[in-house]
Amino acid sequence: MMKKLSAIVLAAGLGTRMRSGTAKVLHPVAGRPMVWYMASVAGRVADAPVVVVIGHQAETCRAFLEHSRPALGPCRTVTQSRRLGTAHAVRQAKSVLMPGGKAVSKHCLIVNGDTPLLTRETIARLVARHERTGAALTLLTACPPDPKGCGRVVRGRDGRVVGVVEERDAGRAERAIREVNAGAYVVDTPFLFRALANIRPRNVQKEYYLTDLVGLAVTGGRRVTGVRAADASECAGINSRRDLAVAERIMRERIRTRWLEKGVTMLDPGTTFIDDGVTIGRDTVLCPGVTLEGRSTIGAGCVIRAGSRVTDSVVGDGVTIDDHSLVNGAVIENHVTVGPFARLRPGSILRRGAKVGNFVEVKNTELGAGSKANHLTYLGDAAVGARVNIGAGTVTCNYDGRRKHRTTIDDGAFIGSGAQLVAPVRVKKGAVVGAGSTITRDVPAEAVALSRVRQVNHEGAASRRRSRARRAAAPSSATRSRATSRTGGAGAARRTAKRQR
Ligand code: UD1
Ligand code: CA
Repeated sequence: MMKKLSAIVLAAGLGTRMRSGTAKVLHPVAGRPMVWYMASVAGRVADAPVVVVIGHQAETCRAFLEHSRPALGPCRTVTQSRRLGTAHAVRQAKSVLMPGGKAVSKHCLIVNGDTPLLTRETIARLVARHERTGAALTLLTACPPDPKGCGRVVRGRDGRVVGVVEERDAGRAERAIREVNAGAYVVDTPFLFRALANIRPRNVQKEYYLTDLVGLAVTGGRRVTGVRAADASECAGINSRRDLAVAERIMRERIRTRWLEKGVTMLDPGTTFIDDGVTIGRDTVLCPGVTLEGRSTIGAGCVIRAGSRVTDSVVGDGVTIDDHSLVNGAVIENHVTVGPFARLRPGSILRRGAKVGNFVEVKNTELGAGSKANHLTYLGDAAVGARVNIGAGTVTCNYDGRRKHRTTIDDGAFIGSGAQLVAPVRVKKGAVVGAGSTITRDVPAEAVALSRVRQVNHEGAASRRRSRARRAAAPSSATRSRATSRTGGAGAARRTAKRQR
């Protein structure tokens, strides 16, 4: 049976007005490359293939889309090797959507890849309207406060859409039109590919305009419907850095509203930045200046204090992340405390109830349940068991200049302050490492390891040393008068004193 709806996302352009070395659709909005949004909406409304037309930095785009497949759903890419315009871009999808001249779907949704703010609801409404009216083409329109740069929607006396005129081709009367083309269309699939063949680059930019479809449908006696978006700001296409900044703000605001509605507290929403790929549990409190990035999952009942940033991490329930902590690529189980001023780097796993305190760096290390590393510590490439105490200033010496080595600390061990654990090394169950020790060999279970030089106390030596120093600084009167008479300077006196020492 023929499917209902396929989709095409146009994402091949460079985006000259961005003035960037990066293809426009790869610029992120709320932490996701722009193209993600329309590809994701298309994937959710279509039941037939979604084709993303790529061109500029095609390899990077393709890699990103493939990497996002689990979240995006299946989408195909086709390459537009020369960017000859939006109609030319759509034509590249023909081999996928019209194999052997037979359409795979009744209708086809076409969206620009640079309109990330368009919502699924709006697109679904456009599709529903298209199906209901039986039009050959249904396009989304908007009436923004400033229509500058957009194609204008020309309506006939009866109010029906009769054409779209790009701003550069528009005359004065057309430029005065407030209603613009939002760059989202639903088209009868066989009609689409037939009509594309008739589009010619007869315009100022000498491009194949997809918008010429409208005029072609009307002159061919086919019905065209315009659906006006309720919220024009949704329809904004991103062509410049300014547009990007505006979209970023709107998207961030939307995301914050979403989480506020789901029971997350934000003390200062305006300074709270949450990427689109983040999820947050109920009753979690976000303090001012918190950033939650990438694919992070935050549990329920957490407190994340001011200035902390969590990137691509999994955080359990009831976790406290104190002020100014950086958490990246970490897994934090329930009821863990982190910070203030802690840094968790990729591969950090903090088991239930563990504590990582101020000025502690953790990398590629598992810290067992209830274990603590509270002050000034570096734990790299280590496996730390449960209920271990890591004293202040402990350092795992994991790098020998060429390779990284692992440190293992078993359950219930106690590492005294200022210890250096020279990897590869293992401190076994229940063992104690004395403060200030440099551990280079394994420590047996229940043993106490000490590697300090025995302390010697020289009685009275400190005061003797001080008076020696005082004498040296204040030379005898004879020396002083000789030195002063020769050069007349205190500098000379000091030099003489030095010689005498
Ligand atoms: C387009 C519309 C305009 C509409 C506006 C809405 C046309 C001719 N004009 O203009 O009526 O008001 O969007 O935002 O369609 N692309 C390709 N290959 C190409 C050219 C473009 O894939 O050869 C892609 C771009 O990557 C972009 C999208 O198509 O994602 C739109 O292209 P863009 O150049 O931004 O079109 P606009 O001038 O904004
Ligand atoms: Ca655009």
